Amino acid sequence: MDIKNAEFTSIFNVASLQNGALVDLHWFFLAIAALIACVVTGLLIAVIAKFRTPADDDGSEPRQVKGNIRLEIIWTAIPLLIVTVLGVLTAVVMIKVNPAVGSKKPDVIVIGHQWWWEYQYPKYNNVITANELYLPAGKNFLFEMRSADVVHSFWVVAFGQKMDCIPGHPTNMWVHPTKPGKYLGSCSEFCGAQHGLMRIIANVVPQAEFDEWIKAQQAMPEHSTDPAALRGKKLFNDATCVQCHRIAGDAEAESQIGPDLTHIAQRKTLGDGLIDNNTENLTKWMQNPQKFKAGVNMPNMRLTDEDAHDIAIYLESLK
Ligand code: CUA
Repeated sequence: MDIKNAEFTSIFNVASLQNGALVDLHWFFLAIAALIACVVTGLLIAVIAKFRTPADDDGSEPRQVKGNIRLEIIWTAIPLLIVTVLGVLTAVVMIKVNPAVGSKKPDVIVIGHQWWWEYQYPKYNNVITANELYLPAGKNFLFEMRSADVVHSFWVVAFGQKMDCIPGHPTNMWVHPTKPGKYLGSCSEFCGAQHGLMRIIANVVPQAEFDEWIKAQQAMPEHSTDPAALRGKKLFNDATCVQCHRIAGDAEAESQIGPDLTHIAQRKTLGDGLIDNNTENLTKWMQNPQKFKAGVNMPNMRLTDEDAHDIAIYLESLK
C-alpha cells in the first residue's frame, strides 16, 4: 500500500513553518513547566526535611503565623508573570501561524465528505481531485475548509494545525510546507461510521513537480480506444454512475456528490487510502463498496463481472 511509504507521523516531524512555530512554543512551555516542577518539588522536599517532627516534640501546637503581605505579593506576582508571558507568547505564535486572511482567495479548498476529502485548486483552472492532496514545498498556501455534510476536522500531523470543516461556515488555515514528503493525517472530529477511515494523504513535492502535477490535472484525460474501455464508458454514462461522479470534458458526468474521477488513474489508492488503485481492486470496489467501507454513500450497483470490469478498464484509462 502506497501510504506505507509515508513519513514518520508525529507532530515533532516538522513539515511546515507553522508547525515549526508551534513545536518551538511547545518546547518553551515544557521548559517553563519543568522548571516550575523542579522548584516546587525542591521546596517541598526542603520543607519536609526542615520541619519534620523532632524526636523531643512535646506535642504542643506550633507557632501560628497569620498574614504576610510580602509573601502574598510574591506568590501572586510570580504566577501572574508566568501566565502573562505564556499568554503573550501564545498570542504572538497564533498571529504568526494564522494571520488575518482579509480578502485573500484560497489556494486550496478542502471539502470534507462522509468519508473522503475533496480538494479544489481555484487558482489553477479549478482543478478538482480527491483524497490525495498535492502541495509545493516552499510556498505559503491558504486553505479554505468546508464540509458537504457533517462537521469534519482536517489534520495533517506534520503540519501541526487542526481545523474544523463546518457546514455553511468556511474556516481558513495557512500551510507553508518546508520539505518534500508524503505526510499522513486523518479526520479528527467524529463524523460517523467510517470516521476512522477518513484518511488524509498530503504529498509535498518540489515546485517543478507540483507544476507538472497541476498541468497533468488541468489536461483533459486521455480516452482509450480499447473496446472494453469504450463499452465501459457507455455503461458508466448510462448507469447511475454519472449521478454522483464528475469527469471533466464529459457533459454527462458533471455531478460532484462523489469523488471527481477526471484523472482517477493517476491516484495511488482507492476508497481514501484504503486499497491500491488498480483495475482488479476498482472492479471489486464497484461490485460491493459496502464490503470495503460499510456505510459509504456509494451503493452496491449490482454490476455483472463483465460490466464492472469494463467500467474499471475505462476509469483506469483516465490518466
Ligand atoms: Cu470526517 Cu471524522
